[in-house]
Amino acid sequence: MRAVATKRPKEDGLLLFRRSNPHHNLLQKEREPHCFRSSVACLSGANGYCIESMINREIATLQSSLLPSEFCSMKAARKTLISEELRQRFSKAKNVLVLSGAGVSAESGVPTFRGGGDSAVWKEMPFSVISSAEMVERDLPEVWEWFNYRRGVLATLKPNSAHEAIARWQDRFDHFTLVTQNIDGLHQAAGSREVIELHGSIWRARCCDCDARHNIRDLKFDNGVPACFDCGGHLRPDVVLFGEMLPAGAFELAAMKAESCELCFVAGTSAVVYPAASIPEIARAAGAYVVEVNPELTPLSDLCDEVLPGKAGEILPLFEK
Ligand code: APR
Repeated sequence: MRAVATKRPKEDGLLLFRRSNPHHNLLQKEREPHCFRSSVACLSGANGYCIESMINREIATLQSSLLPSEFCSMKAARKTLISEELRQRFSKAKNVLVLSGAGVSAESGVPTFRGGGDSAVWKEMPFSVISSAEMVERDLPEVWEWFNYRRGVLATLKPNSAHEAIARWQDRFDHFTLVTQNIDGLHQAAGSREVIELHGSIWRARCCDCDARHNIRDLKFDNGVPACFDCGGHLRPDVVLFGEMLPAGAFELAAMKAESCELCFVAGTSAVVYPAASIPEIARAAGAYVVEVNPELTPLSDLCDEVLPGKAGEILPLFEK
């Protein structure tokens, strides 16, 4: 993991960040991701992180708590946030993949599930309960009420500068892939096309009987459970709930694209939910340069070539400057 700016450490305020993982040179030289990960394990503290990265984690957490105000006043510093190497790679890249998570929509006002924003709870039911396959079995009307509420909130929100930057990138590179865990449709609202939605979409419904999919905007229902146009069966939100499989083919397509990309951005995800979190790992294993954009460090940070500590809406547009 490297926090900010160039490879050769220089004595300045950001050095703390940069004196990050000594394995980094190992990474540069040998780029054997799996053995890298295992080498971390062999030097490990309990959770597979070496002492060095634990210390950095403390510093980073401290630093990230200072981040917004510190960095806002260091506008110029942002210019150095993105290393020259990464700028070079970005300007020369032909095949780029972005994996996005809830953090990319945080600046639009969408609550995240963990870290950074306030966690979602519905009628004292934690998110993981109301958004579960078991709840669809037990109380589908309640699941609809929860998703109707969320759709009501989302309908008032607009894409932010992170969504807009990512949408512009699709026409910048010969090959561009956007893989999202978000169900909010804000990437598409910003103009992103062919978005691989790993966790479905809150703007679609799926029939529990014939599996047909319908655009929610075409459904006339206030509450209760809407019926399928095709077979009259019960519709449910076309969203991957806890304990459910991802849509057929979505992950496989994303994994295939990750294997061929040369630059992989991971923005706004806590990287704790699999298989989505394995996408950057697949890209890394295939030799891609992996960059994380997040105000907080994540379990993935150690695997990344660069970690840009900050908000996606502030950092991603910098790449075009
Ligand atoms: N810019 C970038 N990252 C941000 C920002 C921001 N402005 N604000 C918060 N973050 C980061 C947080 O630090 C956190 O690491 O975004 C991450 C959000 O993490 P989660 O809430 O766990 O969201 P995500 O990783 O997308 O969750 C994955 O879990 O609950 C399921 O299905 C749900 O798709 C979701 C999946």
